[in-house]
Amino acid sequence: MGSTTIPVLLVTANVGSIFEDPTEMLKIWTEEFLSTVSKLDPKFIALHCQEVGGKNYELSMKHVEHFIKLLMSSNELRLFDKIRVFLDEDYSSAENFTALGNLYFVHKSLENILLWDFKDMKFVPVQGKEIYSGNIEAVVTKEKAKFPQDFFPECKWSRKGFMRTRWSLNGTVIDLVNIHLFHDASNFIAMESYPSVYCKNRRRALEHTLQRFHNDSYSNAPYFLFGDFNFRTDTDGVIKLKSFDKELEAFEDTLTEYPVTFPPSYPFEEKISKATSYMQTRCPAWCDRVVLSRCAKQLVSEDSKVEYGLIGINTCMGDHKVRNLIVCVQYDFLFLSIYFMQPVFLDFHMLVTDE
Ligand SMILES: *[C@@H]1O[C@H](CO)[C@@H](O)[C@H](O)[C@H]1NC(C)=O
Ligand SMILES: *[C@@H]1O[C@H](CO)[C@@H](O)[C@H](O)[C@H]1NC(C)=O
Ligand SMILES: *[C@@H]1O[C@H](CO)[C@@H](O)[C@H](O)[C@H]1NC(C)=O
Repeated sequence: MGSTTIPVLLVTANVGSIFEDPTEMLKIWTEEFLSTVSKLDPKFIALHCQEVGGKNYELSMKHVEHFIKLLMSSNELRLFDKIRVFLDEDYSSAENFTALGNLYFVHKSLENILLWDFKDMKFVPVQGKEIYSGNIEAVVTKEKAKFPQDFFPECKWSRKGFMRTRWSLNGTVIDLVNIHLFHDASNFIAMESYPSVYCKNRRRALEHTLQRFHNDSYSNAPYFLFGDFNFRTDTDGVIKLKSFDKELEAFEDTLTEYPVTFPPSYPFEEKISKATSYMQTRCPAWCDRVVLSRCAKQLVSEDSKVEYGLIGINTCMGDHKVRNLIVCVQYDFLFLSIYFMQPVFLDFHMLVTDE
């Protein structure tokens, strides 16, 4: 029995608003992300984005391309010689479009990296850099689905679903799942009861997704689920100061999470145009999360230092660069979207069994 570890960085980011002001925000966001990469020095990076392209995909397509180029040509990522990018971009297909983007960067020091082919149900070697964009329905190294239509509020399609990949990192197999669950369409209805109708919808969609993985005709793997869960807090619970960040509790037999010690990523994500006085008094919530199956937690080295937090949180506060300070003032809500990225920094135990 031998064992080594691989530093892994998992990031989730709802990037919708950076595409609404791409000239400034793309650059700042990318710098923030890359400086985190430099600081943590991971060897495997998974970046899961939601709302790629923002609201106007038709107009933003070229910015998405620019965004990917910025990352791929960066100095910080120059030693990552194996890259896979999956961008679900075909907005003309209401039944399939999720606006999800899964980006994976593998350091050149890592060898023996495989990706699962969901069609032929076998692993294939990962070499070089490949970007799948546009209509990616036929790409077999990812699994992507929207939630069933009757799960959607009023049966109206929106871009909610998941995109999964399965990796074998030097023999350790894991699933990485990008997920975007339903949001609270009305604050007032959300307030009426806990769990709210929205919370129940999210729970149902998440249950469905986990069940779907469980039903795989191939073996189950430990999984990491990171995306925009749209989890909200139980307002009444906050008032009585009881436990109020409860949406994950329904899954505690299956899922686990590292302690949340960072400030809520919401309500920063709301669009300024929608902000009413009611909104401002609304409870902060932790929408964006990195959770893992209980099996996955066993892969995490016990003596590794796990960091779970927001990226960019310090850019706007304290001892920071004037330029960023200005940006913070100018681009209030856009700037804060940078914070949606939440890294888990893990050392995987590489379990090597001798046959
Ligand atoms: C949507 O996805 C289904 C299932 O993968 C596929 O059969 C169909 O052709 C897709 N539609 C478009 C417009 O790509
Ligand atoms: C990969 O696994 C082998 C043993 O099978 C080990 O010797 C090697 O150090 C591992 N490489 C990394 C980068 O962890
Ligand atoms: C999983 O399998 C069970 C039992 O066959 C079935 O009832 C259920 O609908 C399946 N769920 C999904 C999401 O595929």
